[in-house]
Amino acid sequence: MTLREKAELAERAARASGAMLEKHDPFKVKRKSENDFVTEMDFKSEALIREMLLTACPEDAFFGEETGGEMSAEGRWVVDPIDGTSNFMRGHRLYTISIAYQFKGELAVGCVYCPGTDELFLAVKGEGATLNGRPIRVSGTSNPRDALVHLGFGHRIPVNRERTLRVFPTLLKAVSDVRRSGTAAYDLCCVADGRSDGYVELGLNLYDYAAGCVILTEAGGTVSGWEDGEDGLATGNVIATNGILHEAIRRALI
Ligand code: IPD
Repeated sequence: MTLREKAELAERAARASGAMLEKHDPFKVKRKSENDFVTEMDFKSEALIREMLLTACPEDAFFGEETGGEMSAEGRWVVDPIDGTSNFMRGHRLYTISIAYQFKGELAVGCVYCPGTDELFLAVKGEGATLNGRPIRVSGTSNPRDALVHLGFGHRIPVNRERTLRVFPTLLKAVSDVRRSGTAAYDLCCVADGRSDGYVELGLNLYDYAAGCVILTEAGGTVSGWEDGEDGLATGNVIATNGILHEAIRRALI
């Protein structure tokens, strides 16, 4: 199967999961740890996506937020069945299904679907990124004072929450305004299609950012870690921007 075919499969799985999530019955919620929740629907979404992906590609490995998985095969799906569980369980419309495909360790396909807005972001490495089939591109904003920047609060891990609170005043003064969507995958897609100029968060997990990062970089954006030379894709401390504003936003976080 080509990477394009994998992307089309990811789109079908994300849309099927979205349709199921949008017409859910009442569901149970469990606290995983402080400020971290999981619902019955996260498990149902992950099971449906896993079944669709592995039926079509039995040779691939699967790694999901709720059930984990292996690294074994050359190709691996990385899935967040509901990114923005807190939004979903309280009825907020911004939550996403995030599906990435890694080949030999490299992120090669990204699919992020937001059922509440019916926006489907898709990218294949080297082939660009689209929103509902139309090509997208990062913004051309060059003055930090005009920048709209999404900020994730690193709310689950106390040390990240404290660091985020420390840098918040400097960031807010450096840019035009700050947003908090509640889904990292959607934040990355907002930068990818130019409606926002940057997104920063500490302590993300691979399944939160894998698909969104393929979409962002294919739309011309830049991803790094918070420290000089830090690989954000390895540490989960992510700065994602339109590229032009990357250093200005990174410096505002020191
Ligand atoms: C969370 C969301 C949220 C981010 C958290 C993530 P989940 O993912 O992406 O925006 O701030 O760090 O854990 O737990 O809802 O899949």
